[in-house]
Amino acid sequence: MEFEFILVQAAYAPHIALVQLNRPKELNALNLQLMLELKKALAQLDEQDEVRCIIITGNQQAFAAGADIKQMESKGPIDLLKIDQFETWDQIRKTKKPIIAAVSGFALGGGCELAMTCDMIIASETAKFGQPEIKIGIMPGAGGTQRLTRAVGKVNAMEMVLTGKFIGAEEAKNMGLVNRVVPEELYLDEAVKLAKEIALMSPIAIRLAKESVNKAFESGLQEGLFFERKNFYMTFASNDQKEGMSAFVEKRRPDFKGN
Ligand code: HXC
Repeated sequence: MEFEFILVQAAYAPHIALVQLNRPKELNALNLQLMLELKKALAQLDEQDEVRCIIITGNQQAFAAGADIKQMESKGPIDLLKIDQFETWDQIRKTKKPIIAAVSGFALGGGCELAMTCDMIIASETAKFGQPEIKIGIMPGAGGTQRLTRAVGKVNAMEMVLTGKFIGAEEAKNMGLVNRVVPEELYLDEAVKLAKEIALMSPIAIRLAKESVNKAFESGLQEGLFFERKNFYMTFASNDQKEGMSAFVEKRRPDFKGN
C-alpha cells in the first residue's frame, strides 16, 4: 500500500499491521489527505484475514499534534460542512479489528482524539496528551469532549478542555486514559506485545467482544447487556469456540482460524 502521508506494513509481525503517521516536519499534523489515507488503509487492513490487530503510531517526537491548523485557518463553517471530514473519522471508528495507538511525544487536539478513537493506548514516558483547541479559539470536534470525558471523568476532562493544558503519560495513566506507560525506546515493542497477545485469540470472538465493549461506551446498561448477550451467543456459532473449549479440555493451546 503506497500513500504520501502514512506508511503501512500489513505484515509488520505475524497477524499484526503497522500504520505510521508520517509528516514528521509538521509533527504529524492531521491534514485531510492524511486522514483519508488512514481511512483507506484501515479499511483495506480490515478486509485482510491475515491481519488480526492494527497498531497506529507516529514517531518519538509526535503521535500527532492535532488537525492541520494551517489547512483549517481560512475555512468557514460551510467549507467544513462540505468537506465533511467527520465521515472519515466515523469510518475509522467502525474498523472491526482491534487498533492499538502507540503514542510517543505529542498527542494533541485531533491527535489525542485519534488515539482515543483507537481501542487501547500504549504510551511512552515522553507522551503528552492534551486538547489545546481552546487556545486557538475553537474546541475539540472529533470526539474530544465526549471520549475524554468518558475516559477521565468530568472534572479532569473539563480542566483539560477549558485550559488546553497538556498532561504527561503518568498522569494520563492515573486518569485512565492509557493502558500502560513504558520507556521511550519500548513503546512500539510494548504495543506489538499486546497486539500479539490479542492475535492469538479467536478473531471472531475478538470482533464481537470489541463491538460489545464499544457498545458500553455508546449506550445505557440494559441496551448494552442485551447487545453483549447476542454477541456472546454468536461466538458459539464459530469453529473457534469449539477449538478453544476442546483445547482447554484437552489441555493444549488453541489454534484459532477465524471461522
Ligand atoms: C499545523 C503544525 C501543527 C498543527 C505543529 N505544527 N502542530 N502545523 N497544524 N496542529 C508545525 C509547526 O507549525 C511547525 O512548522 C512544526 O510543526 C513544528 O512545530 P513547533 O511549534 O515549531 O514545535 P514546538 O515549539 O516543539 O511546539 C510543539 C507544539 C506546537 C507544542 C506541539 O507545535 C503546538 O502547539 N502545535 C499546535 C497544537 C494544537 O493546537 N493542536 C490542536 C489543533 S486543532 P513550521 O513550518 O511552522 O515551523 C485540532 C482540532 C481537531 O486538532 C478537530 C477535529 C478534526
